[in-house]
This record gives sequence, structure tokens and C-alpha cells, in this order.
Amino acid sequence: MSFVEVARIDEVPEGSMKHVEEGDAEILLAKVDGKIYAVGDRCGHMNARLSMGKLQGTTVICPLHASQFDVTTGKNVKEPVLTSIPGAEKVPELKKYSERLEKIIAPVKTYDLPTFNVKVEGETILVNIK
Ligand code: FES
Repeated sequence: MSFVEVARIDEVPEGSMKHVEEGDAEILLAKVDGKIYAVGDRCGHMNARLSMGKLQGTTVICPLHASQFDVTTGKNVKEPVLTSIPGAEKVPELKKYSERLEKIIAPVKTYDLPTFNVKVEGETILVNIK
């Protein structure tokens, strides 16, 4: 496959993330220490859009259940946090629903993210879509 243009360099400031799409690929671009990284922008747990989460150093934190991934490798570095619905313990029906939801989510596996090779030519970020 070949490299395709996905963004301008000024669209990804230091310490930020950007969601881009190319064909069927949803890609998270992140700039850390002056380098651009590209990984899949769907969480390896339950598909939340990671670029809506937080970037701390080279770690992106999922906005849904807080799984963490290293944007330099795509590796899952911390499992999701599955907590009860706030206030559920006060409402019996909600407590029952919350407990059932936790049982359903608990066995869901978290997978590493796909990674993409990146190059910058002038002001343009290019990604190798596999
Ligand atoms: S969807 Fe990302 S941690 Fe659950």
C-alpha cells in the first residue's frame, strides 16, 4: 500500500490528537515530543472513539471506560475501569440493571490498536493505510 495525505501538520499541535478517516480506516493522529503517531481510533475494548479521550504523554485514555493505550506501539497498557452507575445503589431497579451491565461488560476483551506508519513531507502528514 502507499502513503496517503490525511492532515496538515498544523492541525495536530504538540500534545494533541486528531481524528481522520481514510477509506474504511478511522485513525487517531497524536503528536508527542515533536513526532506524529497514527493508531486506530476505535478503542480495543468496545469501540469508543479514542480521540475523544485524553492524551497524557504517549498514553491515550479511552473516554468510555478509561482503558489506556500507548500511541507509539498501539499496545493496551491498562485495562478498562468498570464501575457501577452513580447513585444506582439507591434505586433497586437501577442497582439490578447496573449489576447486570457489569456482568455483561466484564468478560469483554481489550485488544491492542492497529498502528500505521507515518511520514511528514513539508506541511503534510501522510499515513500508510495497510
Ligand atoms: S470502550 Fe474504551 S475502555 Fe471501554
